[in-house]
Amino acid sequence: MSSSQQAQPVNEDRMHEFLGKVVGDFGAALSSTLAYIGIKLGLYAALAQTGPATPAELAARTNTSERYVREWLINQASGGYVEYDAGAGRYHMSPEQAVALTDENSPFYVGGGFYVVKAMGRAEPRITEAFRTGEGMLWGEHDADLFVGTERFFRPGYTAHLVNTWIPSLNGIEEKLKTGGTVADIGCGHGASTIIMAKAYPNSRFRGFDNHAPSIEHARRAAEEAGVGDRVSFEVASASEFPGENYDMIAFFDCLHDMGDPVGAARRACDTLAPEGSALIVEPMAGDTVEGNFNIIGRTFSAASTLCCTANSLALGGPALGAVATEAALRETVLAGGFTQFRRAAETPFNRIFEARR
Ligand SMILES: C[S@@+](CC[C@H](N)C(=O)[O-])C[C@H]1O[C@@H](n2cnc3c(N)ncnc32)[C@H](O)[C@@H]1O
Repeated sequence: MSSSQQAQPVNEDRMHEFLGKVVGDFGAALSSTLAYIGIKLGLYAALAQTGPATPAELAARTNTSERYVREWLINQASGGYVEYDAGAGRYHMSPEQAVALTDENSPFYVGGGFYVVKAMGRAEPRITEAFRTGEGMLWGEHDADLFVGTERFFRPGYTAHLVNTWIPSLNGIEEKLKTGGTVADIGCGHGASTIIMAKAYPNSRFRGFDNHAPSIEHARRAAEEAGVGDRVSFEVASASEFPGENYDMIAFFDCLHDMGDPVGAARRACDTLAPEGSALIVEPMAGDTVEGNFNIIGRTFSAASTLCCTANSLALGGPALGAVATEAALRETVLAGGFTQFRRAAETPFNRIFEARR
């Protein structure tokens, strides 16, 4: 501690306020692990579907140990994730809690986030070392729950906005996809966005590309299960070398900022788009100043960026745009790839949606 810091008196009220915040964070971090357990073991699902339960009843419904469930429920009620009726000694979930924690088809579903948090926490030894060396950690080197969680966390937003708002916000693309166009989904991961688009535009064809082979295998299975396997293909390919030409739309969902060579990815998109085609670039909602990130969303995204996005780009010798890249940095990257137009076409509290054209 510097002598100037030592000389400043501590204000006791502000100290207690700060410590209260820190203890809240301890509880939140630990409870995030318990929420992950609750999803994995179906504790929330059982409570939501079969109604109020004592710890013993919930344990019996889920084939789990009553002693653990009892402790878990106290934690959950103290965090506001479930409700407790002290008179009856039973726990239940409000409609909002039930939807957000159990309904994977709802735009409000947040369960995937706990998988992401769990997986990113496991990266700590590598990332701590990376702080010392400046080296990185590849996307594919993370705990497999990162890939599962990313899909589950992002899919509700894509379901709510992609077809209803984001594609209509682009210049003439919705009409093209309705009549029949070709789309490339770059960095498609498990293919959630690709499959949503394929279901909405049955006359169009979709190609998903990702350089993480296990994600591509998963995406292929998901497309078959969704009944769109005839119109969707998934291939292992890098963003700067993916095959094809004359695409009507090339999409980057939450991945351009992760890349080792985002300018090369933009260049490949520019080279393979049809003359009237659009690039759809979906990025996290970040601030345009450092202090513009000082909120709950900026806190979450800058943490994920440190543990994953920035580390992936650095592992590849990239510019590490990161999850809180400014709009100016993204614009510069996309224009450096050869695009001449770049604009914010839409936004949500979590995402900025950009359109780039040749
Ligand atoms: C945060 S995930 C997003 C996945 C998916 N787009 C979604 O929204 O669910 C980023 C994805 O970009 C992929 N990726 C990163 N760099 C890539 C590159 N250079 N070429 C192809 N895929 C890349 C990763 O493998 C990962 O699947």
